[in-house]
Amino acid sequence: MIDIARTGAEVRDFRRRLAAQGKTLALVPTMGFLHEGHLSLFREARKRADVCAASLFVNPTQFGPSEDLARYPRDEAGDFAKMEAEGVSLVFAPDADEIYPAGEETRVEVERLSDRLCGRSRPGHFRGVATVVLKLFNLFQPEVAVFGEKDFQQLMVIRRMARDLFLDVEIVGAPLIREADGLALSSRNSYLSAEDRQRALGLSRALKAMRDAVQSGENDTAALRSIGSQILSEHGLVEDYLAIVDEQTLDPVDRLGAGPTRALIAAHCAGVRLIDNAPLGR
Ligand code: PAF
Repeated sequence: MIDIARTGAEVRDFRRRLAAQGKTLALVPTMGFLHEGHLSLFREARKRADVCAASLFVNPTQFGPSEDLARYPRDEAGDFAKMEAEGVSLVFAPDADEIYPAGEETRVEVERLSDRLCGRSRPGHFRGVATVVLKLFNLFQPEVAVFGEKDFQQLMVIRRMARDLFLDVEIVGAPLIREADGLALSSRNSYLSAEDRQRALGLSRALKAMRDAVQSGENDTAALRSIGSQILSEHGLVEDYLAIVDEQTLDPVDRLGAGPTRALIAAHCAGVRLIDNAPLGR
């Protein structure tokens, strides 16, 4: 049976028991409404430590005032069952007051990496992410934490935070999982009608077209971006950004070739903001 912790004190007790048994811990932070992408994170976590724990918390500080916090999809009982089936030993599912008790006022800011791409359209988003993830790390003290590459910028922000704050945790990125037709799995896909879901395929198709162009010898990123943007617009998607960046710094690159690069897209489909990304090296 999976253990359910509602308080930080219960998480600390769990961690102390593991330490006494000499067991290592891998943590998978989530906001729930689990899909196959999350399940792949639990599987990766279980390979990397003796015990896998998860958190299920829809973190209010990473949502802007006009974003979807109130309607973010939730299915706590279903999520607990999925976690149990994947061998997660304990899930921490706190109330917001447990994470942000009255009077707390500390926030974590990863400056440069957070100011671009999703950070530009969602001011404060990565501050909320970094803050909650550091709180979770401090409670769980995991040896390993696993995050999906679907949120590539988030993964880079968390890696930077872990390095900058000397956190003793290995940050593992797990590959993005797609539906058979290419749509990147996301809890927000549940907002899409069948028709909008077809249009949402524009993101993965844009990435594929750019990768195909690279294979055919194109290495000018302005040309690649215009190929991608064209496909987004053919699918009726409203582009937020389509960027080709150095994977480590997230700085834009003009030509492919120097180091690992990645294309990242955010676009609105019928009012739903979707993201996707893919490596773009040769
Ligand atoms: O990727 C997510 O689900 C969230 O941003 C995270 C890492 C659980 C922090 O709330």
